[in-house]
Order: sequence, then C-alpha cells, then structure tokens
Amino acid sequence: MSDGRPSSQPTALITGAAAGIGAAFARALAQEGYRLVLVDRDGEALRAVAGALPAECELMTADLTVDGEVARVEERCAEGLDLLVNNAGFGHPTGFLDTPVEAETAMSRLQIEAVLRCTLAALPPMIERGSGGVINTASVLGFFPSSTYAATKAWVISFSRSAAVKTRPRNVAVTALCPGFTRTDFHGSAGMNMSGIPRFLWLEPDFLVARALRDSRRGKALSVPGWRYKIIVVLARLLPMRLIDLVLTRTGRRPVVGRAGGPS
Ligand SMILES: NC(=O)c1ccc[n+]([C@@H]2O[C@H](COP(=O)([O-])OP(=O)(O)OC[C@H]3O[C@@H](n4cnc5c(N)ncnc54)[C@H](OP(=O)(O)O)[C@@H]3O)[C@@H](O)[C@H]2O)c1
Repeated sequence: MSDGRPSSQPTALITGAAAGIGAAFARALAQEGYRLVLVDRDGEALRAVAGALPAECELMTADLTVDGEVARVEERCAEGLDLLVNNAGFGHPTGFLDTPVEAETAMSRLQIEAVLRCTLAALPPMIERGSGGVINTASVLGFFPSSTYAATKAWVISFSRSAAVKTRPRNVAVTALCPGFTRTDFHGSAGMNMSGIPRFLWLEPDFLVARALRDSRRGKALSVPGWRYKIIVVLARLLPMRLIDLVLTRTGRRPVVGRAGGPS
C-alpha cells in the first residue's frame, strides 16, 4: 500500500534468504537500493548470497524453529522495517501419517509460529508510521486440503488476508505470496521426486518475486504468480469440495500436485 519505495535507506528483512525464493527477494530488493537484513539457519550460504549483492547486508543466522532464535529476529523486526518477507520454509517427502510428529511440529513452528511472531513484531512501527509492507510466502497448495504443509500455508493465506484488512487503512500492505512449483532446491533438499511435473507448471524465482513486490505495492492481499496458477486458484474456490477431494485422491496415486507433504 505504501508505494514501496520509501524516500531514504529503506530496510527489508528476509527469512530463508540463503537460497531460492528468499535469495531472489534479496537480489531484487538490493537492486532497488534497500538495506537488507538476511536471516537463515545456514550462515555460510547467507554470507555467499550477501557477498554477491550490491547492498549493505546485516546477517542473522537463526533456526526459526527454535524459540530463542525467533525472539532475536522478532526484536530486529520491532526495531522498524520498511518490508518484512517471511519466506523460510521446508517440506517433507512423506505424507503426515508417515512423518514423525516432531518434524510436523517443527514445520508448524517455522511456517506458522515464526510468521506470526515476526509479523506482529514488525507491524506496530509500520502502522505508527503509516507505511510499510509484509509479504508472507504461502503456496497455491494452501487452497487445497493436501497435507500438514498445505495446512500451514492455508493458515498463512488466511492470516495474511485478515491482517491486510486491518492494516490497509493505515497504508500498510500484508500480502500472501502463493507460488506454484518453483525452480529452487526446495524439493531436492526434501528428497521429493518431481520428475512427473510438466515443464509448463514450473516458475522461476525472479519472476514470482517481481510479481510479489508489484502486488504488495498495489496493496493486494494475495499474489498468485502465473496464469496457470491463477486458474488453479479460481477452480479451487469454485469447485465443490467433494470434487476437489476426488481429484486430489486421483493425483495422489500419480504425483502431480501436492502429494506427500506438499512439493509447493
Ligand atoms: N519451491 C517451490 O516450489 C515452492 C512453491 C510454493 C511455496 N514455496 C515456499 O517458498 C518458500 C521458500 O522456499 P524455496 O523454494 O526458496 O526453498 P529453498 O530453496 O529450500 O529455500 C528455503 C530457505 O529457508 C531456509 N530454512 C529452512 N528451514 C529454516 C529454519 N528452520 N530456520 C531458518 N531458515 C530455514 C532453508 O535453509 P536450508 O537450506 O538449511 O534448509 C533455505 O535457505 C518456502 O516457504 C516454501 O514453502 C516454495
């Protein structure tokens, strides 16, 4: 809702900035002249990303499934930001019945609790100032009943939409970014076999980051990059639940979208 280009030295904090979509946010925002606070659990990879950027970078190595480490990032968010990007996330290669409960609860700490805590810490100074934005990386899977992963992303979408309604009158945008399959290490590091996914469904991180920043600046609560995923999301909202469940059961036998912990 702010025009996204504050007058002097805007600051953005990005979680999961050492790879994939988070690193693409860092590149795009560095090009725009932002000062960056880059957060990830992999300090070495963070330094490599920061070293290639034309921007002043502050690095925070933090595992956002750990209470005390989220608290450090929360404190940094509360100091005042122009843009917060809650992006860190991971998937499991197995469905929830075959995944240890500890792995599922770690996912909900990262993809729900850390998003909630950082957003609530970042918003008050933005609301006070009357400018700023929060982008929360969800997924198109958040529109489908598919897995614990999908459920965390459904929460991100619902939370972001409700926060957007509250903050829009104060010129602060909260946006849920809902990518489909995106070319990053996400699936490889989770041990997912994605060989059955048709090429036309794959998105490039730089493309969806450009769309997300544009949608945030337009004050949109949802950013769904790519025409094929816009169609999928419209269908998810219009089709009867029983039909969607049937399609998911069928595609579950031949992994296409969102099987086994959620590829995207
Ligand atoms: N790629 C897709 O198809 C796709 C589609 C829809 C949505 N998304 C969402 O997009 C976001 C970014 O994913 P990506 O595709 O860019 O994946 P990625 O390349 O694996 O990047 C994710 C980054 O988050 C970090 N991270 C994971 N757990 C963390 C933790 N506990 N604390 C701090 N950092 C942590 C990862 O570190 P490690 O490398 O150490 O794990 C990695 O650097 C995620 O929220 C994901 O759910 C991805």
